[in-house]
Amino acid sequence: MASKFSSTLLLLLSILMSIQLLVSAGNFYKDVDITWGEGRGKIQEGGRGLALSLDKLSGSGFQSKNEFLFGRFDMQIKLVPENSAGTVTTFFLSSQGEGHDEIDFEFLGNVSGQPYTIHTNVYTQGKGNKEQQFHLWFDPTAAFHTYTIVWNPHRIVFLVDNSPIRVFNNHESIGIPFPKSQAMKVYCSLWNADEWATQGGRVKTDWALAPFTAYYRNINIDGCAVSSGTSSCKSIGSTNNAKPWETHELDGKGRNRLRWVQSKHMVYNYCADSKRFPQGFSAECKSSRF
Ligand SMILES: *[C@@H]1O[C@H](CO)[C@@H](O)[C@H](O)[C@H]1NC(C)=O
Repeated sequence: MASKFSSTLLLLLSILMSIQLLVSAGNFYKDVDITWGEGRGKIQEGGRGLALSLDKLSGSGFQSKNEFLFGRFDMQIKLVPENSAGTVTTFFLSSQGEGHDEIDFEFLGNVSGQPYTIHTNVYTQGKGNKEQQFHLWFDPTAAFHTYTIVWNPHRIVFLVDNSPIRVFNNHESIGIPFPKSQAMKVYCSLWNADEWATQGGRVKTDWALAPFTAYYRNINIDGCAVSSGTSSCKSIGSTNNAKPWETHELDGKGRNRLRWVQSKHMVYNYCADSKRFPQGFSAECKSSRF
């Protein structure tokens, strides 16, 4: 009798919790603070959208209210159209303080008709140098597309419209540090970096076109929020009731897709830059396992 009652209660609870999840998906008012740009960042559509703009005086940015230790972070973004040279739009995770961890998506603008460069990197305890860059197979300024970071103790997966474009595995077993002990916030920004961003800094921003605007929509965070040292996910690492992102790995289809993106759309790989790393590549580069 008691067990029947408690299982009904559990069912009810889980229904309530999934409703809660649905309701809580994608609201910028609830999830983020605009922290930079004096009015250049604006929440729109009742919290579903957010616009960041950049003019000659300043860019703008926002960050999540919560910090997370692992999770799945989805963001829809429509990038600055036409001549966006020198602008950098970002969506990244970062911890605070010295020896920080960071997982980056950065979108480097370009002159009209030339492709954006999607820059990715992973920092552990302040050390990065793990860049991979891509040109996309669509125009990222024409419509919203979904950019995703999945971060669990085993790997980091970067996805674009659910296609994996990069996997950074936990290679601690061969001595490669992996971000897994510092909680991170989500950060997004639009700023100017025309001293390096477009074609290595040769193409400058045309300020006659300002303000530049990038649009964010449907932020969706499914992660372990951390407050005063304790995490909302006790189960992380255990296989009971694991959420999909906790065990996220590529299946055959995902591996094929990743191979296609990496062979056709990757324009820079730190694992292949022998000029920059004449002493040899970082050990994880030798691992062909996705
Ligand atoms: C801009 O376009 C040029 C020419 O197609 C390309 O080489 C470069 O990677 C593009 N992106 C950036 C950020 O310069």
